[in-house]
Amino acid sequence: MCGIIAYKGKENAVQIVMDGLRHLEYRGYDSAGLCVVSKNKTFLIKKTGKVENLLREVKKKQAHDEMLEGEIGIGHSRWATHGSVTEANAHPHFSCDQKIFVVHNGIVENYESLKEELVKKGHRFVSETDTEVIPHLIEEYRKKYSFVISCEKTFNRLDGLFAIVVLDKETGQIIGTRKGSPLVMGIGNQGLFLASDIPAFLDKTNKVIFLDDGDMVHFINNQEYIIRNLISKKTLKKKINIIKWTKEEAEKGKYPHFMIKEIKEIPEVIKKAAWQDKKTLKSVANLIKKSSSVFFVACGTAGHSCLAGQYLFSSLLGRRTGFSVASEFKNFLPALDKKTLLIAVSQSGETIDTLEAVRMAKEKGIKVVSLVNVMGSTLTRISDYVLMINAGPEKCVLATKSYLAQLSLIILILFAVLDKHSEGERELKKISRQIGLLLEDKKFIAQIKQLAKKLSSVDHLFVIGRSYNYPTTLETALKIKEGCYVHAEAFAGGELKHGVIALIEKGTPCIIHLSKSEEEENTLINAMELQSRGAYIIGIGPEKKKDFDFFITVPEVSEIFSLLMNVPPIQLLSYYIALEKGIDPDKPRNLAKSVTVK
Ligand code: F6R
Repeated sequence: MCGIIAYKGKENAVQIVMDGLRHLEYRGYDSAGLCVVSKNKTFLIKKTGKVENLLREVKKKQAHDEMLEGEIGIGHSRWATHGSVTEANAHPHFSCDQKIFVVHNGIVENYESLKEELVKKGHRFVSETDTEVIPHLIEEYRKKYSFVISCEKTFNRLDGLFAIVVLDKETGQIIGTRKGSPLVMGIGNQGLFLASDIPAFLDKTNKVIFLDDGDMVHFINNQEYIIRNLISKKTLKKKINIIKWTKEEAEKGKYPHFMIKEIKEIPEVIKKAAWQDKKTLKSVANLIKKSSSVFFVACGTAGHSCLAGQYLFSSLLGRRTGFSVASEFKNFLPALDKKTLLIAVSQSGETIDTLEAVRMAKEKGIKVVSLVNVMGSTLTRISDYVLMINAGPEKCVLATKSYLAQLSLIILILFAVLDKHSEGERELKKISRQIGLLLEDKKFIAQIKQLAKKLSSVDHLFVIGRSYNYPTTLETALKIKEGCYVHAEAFAGGELKHGVIALIEKGTPCIIHLSKSEEEENTLINAMELQSRGAYIIGIGPEKKKDFDFFITVPEVSEIFSLLMNVPPIQLLSYYIALEKGIDPDKPRNLAKSVTVK
């Protein structure tokens, strides 16, 4: 939540910061702002709403002032926490003398006491944010100390989790730090970068340094920097990593939205999820075999892939397997022993609740395996074993391809535990081909669009499935809610008659997930029970059922792989309903990707 970009170098910082913000917008789109400094001028521009509003304002100013350029700049896209969505609350925030500018992701928990202290010393605040204490505190220390020492003293006084970048107009220097929130550094030929995520500067460089908590980086000039850890007080020489993601992967290309681009990437993503180092996969399989139980943790969509993992591991491996959404994990921790294996799943690797669950488990001596998409993310660094899901950058706020990648990897692990790794690989390749053909099938797409039109005017719908289809129902409901603002609730088919059926009225849409399994018959009975009470029943499954009001046929696969097969249709449905309703599917209201605050 909240995106940060900073640059010091030979190129025009205005352009670099704007490009960076475009790539970071998925982290928050309540407002955006930038501050760029050239030799004798400072440009501070902020706008509420999406980054394009800021871009328009920048262009307007450029038309009047052709000197709108600079060598150092910082930018921010905001997901509001403290203070409403106003220009005053947009970042960068600044000191009274307007020499210190700050962008921040996270929360300064002790900001009220710091603000009180600073107000007493005569500082004037112009926003309602927690962030604004940072430039004022640096300004206060600046009366006695250098910029570097002032930053260090300030960072040491902040409670909470944060990533911060400070620009000092007077010295033309940039300093960044992180504690709990993401911040990575890029090393380009022409200059240095800091950002919340790699795609922000990927079109300029793929050389990246992953900063750790407590690291403070100081850009001395366009090429030189010093990294010091504020906890160990040591100056560090950190490894420069070469990132394999390409800049094309992080762009929309020929597609109108990232959501559709990322759904179309699913066949490739399933194949790539199966590209695992055999030795590491074997070690993870052995850990599972030796463990007393396996416990999955994650949030949101990643949580649904964990629930699927729980179903698979319990039913097919016969292992004691648990799952909890990460924010509730502490309630289950007392029941886990040291021989439990924790599997944490996260696209971003930065979701705060997932990180906290992992830290709690590690404190108890529990081993952690994480399944992650973003290389170098915090989760990859605090886990004992890491398997990358290899989905490439996911920019749409709604998780689509990463869900399929997580499920594919969980299925591959299952096969590895059964000593059938190669069979798992083969099966994943096969389903990747089948989904590829489905996504290219014009009739199938036309059918989804037709259904989307029909559902675009409904207020709520229900989703029903049994067994392995149950996690899919939850994911369906989430995609429909967040993507197209339709209230959707998911139920296990067996729960219907325990209360839910009271909500069914004439015309209530109900999506029924089906697959070839011993539960199919019972699910069909549930569908008929719904229909006889007036529901409009929509089936998704391998064999068209004539009594259904609408049926989306998908290729027949075994029950395990229906976990993958039944998902793209509902992701597409969410996408096309959003378009019907005029919603930007990449940036649904109130949301941001990568939830880095509680
Ligand atoms: C839903 C969605 C979220 C994320 C959740 C976890 O479309 O994107 O529910 O799945 O915030 O995020 P990660 O996987 O980054 O930990």
